[in-house]
Amino acid sequence: MSYATVWVNGVLVGGWPYGYASFRLELTSFLEPGENQLAIRIDQALDSSRWYPGAGIYRNVWLTKVHTTHVGQFGTRLTSREVSSGSAIVDVEVQVENAATSGGEVEVQVTTDLYEIDASTGEAGASAGQFPNSTAVVAAGKIVSASGSLTLQDPKLWGPKPSQEPHLYLAVTRLYLDGQEIDSYETKFGIRSLEYDGDGLKVNGERVYIQGVCQHHDLGSLGAAFNIPAAERQLEMLQDMGSNAIRTSHNPRPGAARPRRSPGVQNDFQTIFGDWSEPDLRAFIRRDRNHPSIWAWSYGNEVAEQRSNNGASAAQRLRDIVHEEDDTRKTTIGMNNAGPDTQFTSIVDLIGLNYQGEGKGNGGPTFENFRGKYPDKMIFSTESSSVVSSRGTYLFPVTGGNNAIVGQNGAGDRYPYVAGEFVWTGWDYIGEPTPYDSSRSSYFGIIDLAGFPKDRFYLYQARWNPEVKMAHILPHWNWPDRVGQVTPVHVFSSGDEAELFVNGVSQGRKKKEEFTYRFRWDDVKYEAGEVHVFTYKNGAAWANATVSTTEKAAKLQLSTYKDRDSIRADGSDLVFVSVAVVDDKGYVVPDAEPSITFSVQGPGEIVTTDNGDPTDMVPFPSKERNAFRGRALAIVRAQSEASETITLSASADGLEGAEITLTVA
Ligand code: GAL
Repeated sequence: MSYATVWVNGVLVGGWPYGYASFRLELTSFLEPGENQLAIRIDQALDSSRWYPGAGIYRNVWLTKVHTTHVGQFGTRLTSREVSSGSAIVDVEVQVENAATSGGEVEVQVTTDLYEIDASTGEAGASAGQFPNSTAVVAAGKIVSASGSLTLQDPKLWGPKPSQEPHLYLAVTRLYLDGQEIDSYETKFGIRSLEYDGDGLKVNGERVYIQGVCQHHDLGSLGAAFNIPAAERQLEMLQDMGSNAIRTSHNPRPGAARPRRSPGVQNDFQTIFGDWSEPDLRAFIRRDRNHPSIWAWSYGNEVAEQRSNNGASAAQRLRDIVHEEDDTRKTTIGMNNAGPDTQFTSIVDLIGLNYQGEGKGNGGPTFENFRGKYPDKMIFSTESSSVVSSRGTYLFPVTGGNNAIVGQNGAGDRYPYVAGEFVWTGWDYIGEPTPYDSSRSSYFGIIDLAGFPKDRFYLYQARWNPEVKMAHILPHWNWPDRVGQVTPVHVFSSGDEAELFVNGVSQGRKKKEEFTYRFRWDDVKYEAGEVHVFTYKNGAAWANATVSTTEKAAKLQLSTYKDRDSIRADGSDLVFVSVAVVDDKGYVVPDAEPSITFSVQGPGEIVTTDNGDPTDMVPFPSKERNAFRGRALAIVRAQSEASETITLSASADGLEGAEITLTVA
């Protein structure tokens, strides 16, 4: 990130400015026998983005050694058609590249074998068939494509959980020259059908409501460097919440949209848009088009040109490029200022609206206006909510202003044809600390930067994952200064009725009303003790929850994400250790913020610490971190090639410390 240039033996080979794109360069002619020097220079301009882009080499760099004739970069494309549970036709297209600078044509045989991928191991399992062999005759310096089709019976379809399973296949393509295998290339893909209409999205014929979140590329305290366990943790927690979709905002993911041209951000993509929009867009789609989970390509966000003819012609040019690269998916742009009658809106295949669909901002055109004009185009919220909150932080009095009821200025659930939404955002991210520009990270997340769910997590879980029996009470119950004062209690639950008790006294039993997403007891007067909620569904007991006034903080408690007790010494595995500051009874003390010191014994290291507090300016690698609202996080990595145990200890003045031991496997 970004403006990478690559040099071999002091000679410039090439480069690529946009740091989120993947690119490949041919080094062969620059190499000399014996030792060579490969140098990569990156050059991140200041003021290049309104979020944190990072500045360094944050993605894998591969040195690939291949035969002169090989499968080209992103050189396979697998698509499926006429998909049903009984059969599907799979098409393969292989780009065979002959990188020779001279010499005659080469004739290579191209084969592609299909395997099922075992979902539990991620490994290729049973053979699923073979595409007909083909021959490619490729002149020096040229690329020739070889294609074929295969009909699969009873295909294992890719589809979103929970109603479907995300089955994958592996295609192994091989090139043969004179009977000798000269290249082998693996492609993971999935078989599924997509249908888009005025009432939403269908995957394999099933209508799937988009329960999505926008996600930035960073991994919290770890920054912009990609790491699989950290990315998995982000996605798993979102899935537990019931989310079934991600909008990568606003850039391609490590190996999917172009950033808004941000006012005042001088050095963002706008400076090179003219030269680079096409190559970047092609690279973005080619790299990722075999992923079955991608159902739309977004190639813009809140561009200022939404209402201009220039903007419309640029949108059309980019849309046509997307369709050239991928004619199996639709395109969209996150629009915040479009109108049903603007040319721009006629160009996007899917109407993606940022906030404006609910009539926000100038009382502008709403979902209904767009629906009136385009009854057959899918409409969805590319961004919704943009609510700011800090975990465990409550403001009194509870008024409309700082505690608006869902639907008070929005849509609630009154537009059934809207295909769904992408909440801004799933997790907090580094940068864009709106509206407090002195903070380090954003406040928009449903989950904070350290990975602790905010109360809103349970609002979404109750709606999006309604089979999970859950009830969640807010606020906490440590308000010594509020005795006798009105302190509203709200509950998120997947139940449809709830009764709240404060110290055993019922505050009333309530039914969840239409278009409301929480139970509210707004007249509760605070007294120390215990708040308990019993919830019901269809008249039967469902889930209960308790929040108690705690004693003072007494000790630290450690736990690991997914209860892991081992770590792989591969240099990239990470174990996420949560610290809770608890009282003698084990209740998390919601306002405890002691300074915690972390240390490691054994062949491991603390990579970063965090607490989810957007105002905490202590550098992420620090081994000392204040708890925030009773919690903190330490991320541990094993040194490579070690086989012992690692013990992480946490201590704080006046509190009983804790340790946790991990086996290095
Ligand atoms: C949106 C924008 C996002 C983010 C968000 C913050 O308008 O598309 O990128 O800046 O505002 O609320």
